[in-house]
Amino acid sequence: MKTSEMIQINKQGWEKSAKRFFGRTALPELGPLAPTEDDLNLFGDIQGKKVLDIGCGSGHSLEYMGSKGALELWGIDLTTKQIETATELLVGQQALVKLFESPMEENPGLPTNYFDIAYSIYALGWTVDLEKTLENIHSYLIPGGTFIFSWEHPIHDRVKRDGPKFTFEKSYLEEGPEYNEAWNHSVIIYHRKLTTYINTLIKVGFEIEKVIDDVVLPDIVPEGNDLRWYSVEKAKLVPATFIIKAKKKK
Ligand SMILES: C[S@@+](CC[C@H](N)C(=O)[O-])C[C@H]1O[C@@H](n2cnc3c(N)ncnc32)[C@H](O)[C@@H]1O
Repeated sequence: MKTSEMIQINKQGWEKSAKRFFGRTALPELGPLAPTEDDLNLFGDIQGKKVLDIGCGSGHSLEYMGSKGALELWGIDLTTKQIETATELLVGQQALVKLFESPMEENPGLPTNYFDIAYSIYALGWTVDLEKTLENIHSYLIPGGTFIFSWEHPIHDRVKRDGPKFTFEKSYLEEGPEYNEAWNHSVIIYHRKLTTYINTLIKVGFEIEKVIDDVVLPDIVPEGNDLRWYSVEKAKLVPATFIIKAKKKK
């Protein structure tokens, strides 16, 4: 299937489901059952920074960046509904706000060598062309600029609940596009090894500063949690989230 067809399928899926994800994974959270930005302080001082959110969704992470004193808030997202919601959410921000409805695989007119920080909270893994997307992100950053992203750990969906046990169903090693189970097979997500993310970052010119796949479990487990996609029981065995901080070389 062509790249553009996969993007179209995913756009249709997201237009239908955008409401369900309203503010669901947004800074200071970095992902399910993972440490937060408050724990890790990966971003450092945001004051006066130009920031770009890749897959900005409903705009809640950009709102957080605004609350930390960012000078410019830019976002890109595939889904019309998400860009509409983010536009409404960010009305009244002191910072300059610029939002683009576009696949991250393309540059819709974003400036290059411009941003201090680019980030992506649970969105980068939606790309159907990782190398092109990372090349784009690399080009938007100033030399020395930071890129931070989080995504579902690629081991997480390989392990399935099977009654009282967890079993390995699919190979961790096989990479490529898959109809996603959590979305009832209505969207396509690439399965990639953790090392593919790391090595593609390096290939396009990033230096890796930190890779995190620690698990943080809640003190009290909510009822029915064992049936959820991100369950505490599963997170005791494999991480749900990974986070990478990288820098564009100076
Ligand atoms: C889980 S949401 C991200 C939430 C958001 N980062 C936040 O902080 O609120 C994933 C987002 O990725 C977007 N997305 C999916 N495929 C995309 C693509 N190829 N290019 C750009 N955005 C995409 C979806 O529209 C969705 O808004």
